Amino acid sequence: MRHVIEPTDLSPPELNDLIKAAEEVRRRPEDYAGRCHGKILAALFYEPSTRTRLSFESAMLALGGGVIGFSSGDASSASKGESVADTIRTVSCYADICAIRHPKEGAALVASQFSTIPVINAGDGGHEHPTQTYTDLLTIHSIKHRMTDMTVGFCGDLKFGRTVHSLLKALTLYPRNRYLLVSPEELRIPDYIRGLLKERDCLFEEVTDLESAIERMDVLYMTRVQRERFFNEEDYVRLKDSYILDKRKLSAAKPDLTILHPLPRVNEIAPEVDSDPRAQYFQQARYGKFIRMALILKLLEEAGAC
Ligand code: NCD
Repeated sequence: MRHVIEPTDLSPPELNDLIKAAEEVRRRPEDYAGRCHGKILAALFYEPSTRTRLSFESAMLALGGGVIGFSSGDASSASKGESVADTIRTVSCYADICAIRHPKEGAALVASQFSTIPVINAGDGGHEHPTQTYTDLLTIHSIKHRMTDMTVGFCGDLKFGRTVHSLLKALTLYPRNRYLLVSPEELRIPDYIRGLLKERDCLFEEVTDLESAIERMDVLYMTRVQRERFFNEEDYVRLKDSYILDKRKLSAAKPDLTILHPLPRVNEIAPEVDSDPRAQYFQQARYGKFIRMALILKLLEEAGAC
């Protein structure tokens, strides 16, 4: 049974095919209307979500399938003490594919070990978020028409931001990119990600100042400081507004910079930036549906269910 727990669970050629498939879905959505007729997606969200859950649900509905699930652990038997393993065994009886988001790192992997249907990790704690990565890659590809030879800036909470970890894992498989990692000292990338960058011979710099780095970037991936992963509120309050992208800071950036953000944003991008043509984060949210349609279809086809 094929699961997607981390972004590299799809090989680079598969990832390229997925992006092509999503571009096709975007061009001709009507061709996909009944492709998953009679199939059911279980959306098991133990943690808050707007884009990920709704784009998964919207994707399955657009494919002609149905959706079941919950949007908080409190609304499931987890609140009675049921384990993820038992929940997924049960869900496997009622659905054909499952997307799971959970506050604990490794929860999606555990689910996949007990599941008889494909499991997609929709975010496990501060660890990974592969479908956001596929969304990010689709967005970059559709704007830049390439995935190589770019200087990509990541800014904000690089320690707890699972979207950052997953995107770096996948993007570093493409050659000749350079990375500018902008964060406060306390929120630098985890050691295992730094190790991966070194292992793959990537050019990267870790800096604390956005203003002096922005002019070199082709892509800027802004992120929210992940309040829910902090051990104390004081640290969060001290660090939350470390970076605020505004028009003034953008004046030094390239005219063809692409600004991405997995969203939700709090303060890290001033609303005045939204009207700048370089701001692509809402477009990115739109692409999240197309890539999830392509992924659901791929996994169900491989499982012989579609
Ligand atoms: C992200 C997440 O949940 O990790 N959002 C998303 O899925 N689009 C980013 C975040 O919450 O900051």
